[in-house]
Amino acid sequence: MSNFFHYKDNELFCEDTSVKEIIQKENTPAYIYSKNSILKHFTEIKDAFAEAKPLICFSVKSNSNLTILKILSDAGAGFDVVSGGELYRALKIGVHPDKIVFAGVGKTTEEIKYALKNNIFMFNVESKAELENINTVAGDLSKKARVALRINPDIDARTHAKTTTGKKENKFGIDFETSEQIINNIDSYKNIDLRGIHVHLGSPIYDPEPYVLALKKVDEFLQKVRKLHKIEYLNIGGGYCISYTGESVKRPEDFARDILPITKKLGARLIMEPGRFIVGNAGILVSRVTYSKASIGGKKHVICDAAMNDLIRPSLYDAFHRIWPVCTSVPRPEIELPNQKPQTNGNLEIVDIVGPVCESSDVLAKGRWFPVVKAGDLIAVFSSGAYGFTMSSNYNSRPRACEILVDGGTVSTIRRRETYEDLIAIEKEYL
Ligand code: LLP
Repeated sequence: MSNFFHYKDNELFCEDTSVKEIIQKENTPAYIYSKNSILKHFTEIKDAFAEAKPLICFSVKSNSNLTILKILSDAGAGFDVVSGGELYRALKIGVHPDKIVFAGVGKTTEEIKYALKNNIFMFNVESKAELENINTVAGDLSKKARVALRINPDIDARTHAKTTTGKKENKFGIDFETSEQIINNIDSYKNIDLRGIHVHLGSPIYDPEPYVLALKKVDEFLQKVRKLHKIEYLNIGGGYCISYTGESVKRPEDFARDILPITKKLGARLIMEPGRFIVGNAGILVSRVTYSKASIGGKKHVICDAAMNDLIRPSLYDAFHRIWPVCTSVPRPEIELPNQKPQTNGNLEIVDIVGPVCESSDVLAKGRWFPVVKAGDLIAVFSSGAYGFTMSSNYNSRPRACEILVDGGTVSTIRRRETYEDLIAIEKEYL
């Protein structure tokens, strides 16, 4: 955990700014991001892989706020997009299209046209049918489409089943055999310019080994097909882990140490698609306690104003996010692990921290050791910068939270809170 979020005199700060003061103006729930944390993580991954001079394409799905994309673009990042909407966002901030790669198993003809008209760098193609479609659409537009074949290497990334993508039963990518057939016949795709190979195994990945195993398979494959076609780019995807517990986890340099010798041997130019590593620990979700409730069986529920519609990761993946009061005399523990009492001085009680949505799965933390809080207190859900706001919804007709960016002592609202009017703005009125 970086020190961009830290406690000073029993109060949480983001960089030089008091979280309580931000909330006095912006209210809750609110996502708060640290600009310098984002930049630090970007530099860390760039430096770790510097030897290979990779094109780092930030994965827009992890956090698609325009200001954040602009910060990363200014720092030299390209973008990994998976929809017309994400492409629109990337183009909107003025990134050069030859820094945009486009993945996803179901790119529609419209999306392919949109990307071709804007001359994006490369499509990461996920099936033969998609390749045929891109070939046809490119022909219609008298263009040549640059593509990489996304290989499904059948490697277990040892992460959550719902976020594993590189096993043969997953919908992603093309198996080696079909990829070889495609490369054998590549001349028959007149409007395709095959430039690269892409692999993305899943997310988050806590060890370099799955990358190494996958890349060894890719190496063997390339030995075979290189005679038929020169592969210029190798895109190794995203997945690089962050710590959600405070424990130390593998760093980009650990991944680089094991990955780079193999990619070097392959001799292709490197593309990477990190998302979570750059923004995950650069953001928190701040919420206010609405009620405390002692339920039957001695269980205590802390009901707060952020819910599964704001941060769905705990409900969807049983994901563990550290949570701690914004103002508290109980020091935040260095490390917190699921179902374990953390080491700290001060009174803790076991609670479920839940939101107001009408679903039992609307839980931010289950069975958590937590300082005693009362209605009105603020709590911070850490490690929420990736797949937090981007996965939020209007379920229960809840307006989405605002997003705030902190740069030292400067605070900017980079997405205002939605209003009730926003909720119905594009609906037809049957009155
Ligand atoms: N490239 C591709 C092709 C991807 O599908 C993804 C993530 C990434 C890159 C970026 O992965 P990252 O570096 O952020 O780990 N909603 C889930 C994560 C889903 C990831 C989907 N693909 C979560 O909240 O954990």
